Amino acid sequence: MRSTLIGAPCARALDARRHALTPPPPPPIKQNNNNDNNNSKPPSLPTLPSAPGARGGQQRGPALEDDLGADDPDEVVLVETEVPSVPGRRCRIVYRCNGAAPIDAARVEALCAKVGWPQRPRAKLEAALRNSFLVASLHLQVIDGGDGGGAPGPAAAAAAEETLVGLARATSDHAFNATIWDVIVDPDYQGQGLGRALVEQVVRALLRREIGNVTLFADAKVVEFYRQMGFECDPEGIKGMFWYPR
Ligand SMILES: CC(C)(COP(=O)(O)OP(=O)(O)OC[C@H]1O[C@@H](n2cnc3c(N)ncnc32)[C@H](O)[C@@H]1OP(=O)(O)O)[C@@H](O)C(=O)NCCC(=O)NCCS
Repeated sequence: MRSTLIGAPCARALDARRHALTPPPPPPIKQNNNNDNNNSKPPSLPTLPSAPGARGGQQRGPALEDDLGADDPDEVVLVETEVPSVPGRRCRIVYRCNGAAPIDAARVEALCAKVGWPQRPRAKLEAALRNSFLVASLHLQVIDGGDGGGAPGPAAAAAAEETLVGLARATSDHAFNATIWDVIVDPDYQGQGLGRALVEQVVRALLRREIGNVTLFADAKVVEFYRQMGFECDPEGIKGMFWYPR
């Protein structure tokens, strides 16, 4: 596999440059009231050592191209934890790729705003999500009741309130190449291995489709984040080049 990082501004910077006109503000977004004890503090989510794809305090896992499995899992529970203060309540971070329900662009906008990315035109964001080859998400599920364990299933998902806490998408020629865009984790959930798990899952999903030339555009401050996963800057001297309208 050849995973390539071209050191260059990130997708949102490029998009922002192309859409310098200030779009109208978005309508207010209804927030899920799914926090521990119903206050505004987000649930803390210790990583589980057994959580597939999440760091869990373990040594680095196998290479991304190892053990891909034949099919995409519908969803992967990356983290699961009980909320001690609320009996029977559990929190999960669930990864999904090209899920049955499209990702709500308003939620993506809210996430982008939370990390300080400039707003993009809503219709274009919707088109970008709709036309992406892969759209991967991380959702926080808060589940009340139940047996406190087991694999996620339709019943558990139906009973859970969900909040979007992470996103990545990839465009592709469906054969050789794919480019990953809009990698983002809600700041309340950063630093727990979720960003890494998200990108690794996306790369695996691409490899399962026999797409081995995976590129992305990294902000200078996140180059190390991607490098740790095996992405390279300027492999064999190849440079990313950009053309902008004057
Ligand atoms: C970049 C981002 C997705 C990382 O998500 P995260 O969940 O905090 O990352 P993780 O916890 O999975 O970190 C994985 C590893 O990368 C490191 N890392 C994370 N962010 C980093 C950064 N900005 N610079 C260098 N290393 C970083 C972590 O320390 C961790 O290393 P470790 O395994 O040795 O402990 C998140 O910070 C984010 O959404 N940032 C704003 C949006 C953004 O800049 N996206 C990238 C666009 S190009």
